Amino acid sequence: MLSGIYATLRRNDAPGTAGNVAPVPGEAHYSAKCAVFGFPREPAAAFPQDVEPDLMDSFEVNKILGAVLGTLLFITAVGIGSDFLFLPETPVKPGYVVPGVPAAGAESTGPTQPTEEPLPDFGTVLKTADVAKGKEISQRCQQCHDLSKGGPDKIGPNLWGIVNRPRASRSSYSYSSAMASSHAPWTYENLFRYLRSPQEIVPGTKMTFAGLPSAQDRIDLIAYLRTLSDSPAPIPPPAPAAPAKTPAAGKAAPGAKPATPAKPG
Ligand code: HEC
Repeated sequence: MLSGIYATLRRNDAPGTAGNVAPVPGEAHYSAKCAVFGFPREPAAAFPQDVEPDLMDSFEVNKILGAVLGTLLFITAVGIGSDFLFLPETPVKPGYVVPGVPAAGAESTGPTQPTEEPLPDFGTVLKTADVAKGKEISQRCQQCHDLSKGGPDKIGPNLWGIVNRPRASRSSYSYSSAMASSHAPWTYENLFRYLRSPQEIVPGTKMTFAGLPSAQDRIDLIAYLRTLSDSPAPIPPPAPAAPAKTPAAGKAAPGAKPATPAKPG
């Protein structure tokens, strides 16, 4: 195969072979291609009629220069046009968020709680919570807490009836001063916040538990803890519908009073 190509090349080198252009004596250095750059094909003509080939050559040069300039102009025009077509858009939100650095334009709520998460509506989520899953999660608490009625304190206090029980209220247990600094009841909301990150909510607590990052895990667990009582804490009524829906409702029932936003607390 390779030797075949080589043989062909060798054959084409040979002068006068069929299928090859025989080199013309005297034109070796001024081929027809050179003429487009204005090189004389032949020495200057002695008679005017012999100038004609050179004139034709200058037309060729003009055509080629025109084509080149035209192409450059076209490329420039396309470049300018595409700038309009593909205007770079500045994203409204940055593609990534650096933790701890407030995003530009976001109003900061103060330096204290940078990781505040929205509280769920317990009137809604407790009804759909997975109590069995909550019982499973409570295994993690039981290495330090006894959950049974009348059970002992372990590393941590007994947690029977913990929902709505005042904080640090078991006289048999020796709380840290951090925990004992408040006796606010363990409402659903307080448990939800505390169990996410105990050290953050009660700084200095001796409960060395990292916390449950998943909100759904905490909801399921709290729904289970609620059952650990002779009279489980009531589930609050679901929060009223979002005010965004009221204009449509007002249209449907013209006589209806406009919904008033729920009072906090
Ligand atoms: C590593 C042991 C440990 C684990 C695990 C643990 N706790 Fe505790 N917990 C404690 C200790 C110790 C305290 C007492 C804290 C203090 O006095 O500062 C406590 C206190 C509490 C209190 C306050 C009790 C009161 O009487 O005011 C609650 C509520 C509580 N834990 C819930 C939980 C739940 C729910 C879990 C499981 C998700 C859990 N804990 C996992 C050790 C633990």
